[in-house]
Amino acid sequence: MKRVLSGIQPTGSPHIGNYLGALKNWAKIQYDYDSIYCIVDLHAITAYQDPKELNTKIQQLAGILLAIGIDKKSLVLQSRVPEHAELAWLLTCVTPLGWLERMTQYKAKSQAQETISDGLLQYPVLMAADILLYQADVVPVGDDQRQHVELTRDIAQRFNSLYPEHGETFTMPATHLPTVGARVMGLDDPEKKMSKSEPGAGHAIGLLDDPAVIRKKIMRATTDSKPGVDFDDPGAGVRNLLAIYQAFTEASNEDMRARFSGMRYGDLKKTVAEAVVAGLEPIQQRYREIPPEQITEALRLGSENARRIANSTLTKVKRAMGLFTFD
Ligand code: TRP
Repeated sequence: MKRVLSGIQPTGSPHIGNYLGALKNWAKIQYDYDSIYCIVDLHAITAYQDPKELNTKIQQLAGILLAIGIDKKSLVLQSRVPEHAELAWLLTCVTPLGWLERMTQYKAKSQAQETISDGLLQYPVLMAADILLYQADVVPVGDDQRQHVELTRDIAQRFNSLYPEHGETFTMPATHLPTVGARVMGLDDPEKKMSKSEPGAGHAIGLLDDPAVIRKKIMRATTDSKPGVDFDDPGAGVRNLLAIYQAFTEASNEDMRARFSGMRYGDLKKTVAEAVVAGLEPIQQRYREIPPEQITEALRLGSENARRIANSTLTKVKRAMGLFTFD
């Protein structure tokens, strides 16, 4: 079976954009692959995180992933598998500095911060370690992470050619899976992708938001000045609401047209809000029913399984580089 690997940071609050764009698909494909889904807490701390808050967020994100239907055997907490950090160091030593300074995410983030940690520069190397540690074949990520997966391939290639003695150490990951999920935009600004770090209260719908809050946010979503839904040429805000509805209900294009053509925006918003509330209800209910001990136990179990795979790669890497392995 091919291996799929992806990661999500335990920062901000997971929202319907994360769910419809990525997490729903993780759950859907998890049994078609040997799957590993990583809560990347070591990536989160490349920018300062309040310790108490981070701890809560990790627990909450793990609960959400389980509630969405991710198998506990697939769930890995990055910091519980020290091999991630260890491999990251070994890869750092074969990665030219220039490659990292060219990363667009690094450039954007370093401009936005007053002091930049060395970790921010190393961020993509740690991500390469996540992927290569498990010899992942497929790495589903959004467009913003594509460059990091390309870099992972470059690092793997460079390692393999620098240390060819024992054959190819790393399998080359496929660039990425084409995104099958929806691209959900901000409710307040439908030109911008819905983001976990956007502060505005009307920007994103959290996966754990109360129904009343969900309704209020959607009723306030930005639309345009047309009298009703122009199905063939909707404005960005209306298109976004339609996409959210379709992603939750999996309605066909014909159904969408029949249902929404000409509908007034007030009614559109009510219909979309009810679909979101209904779509999130079972997830929220499962989330509430998972005891905290079960979350901790899932992380322990998944991470222990992962360590076995991780160790065998790490031994190969060390042997290739001439380090002592004692086995
Ligand atoms: N950098 C990714 C993001 O912010 C998260 C991530 C970390 C990841 N390690 C990964 C994604 C490995 C895919 C594979 O979205």
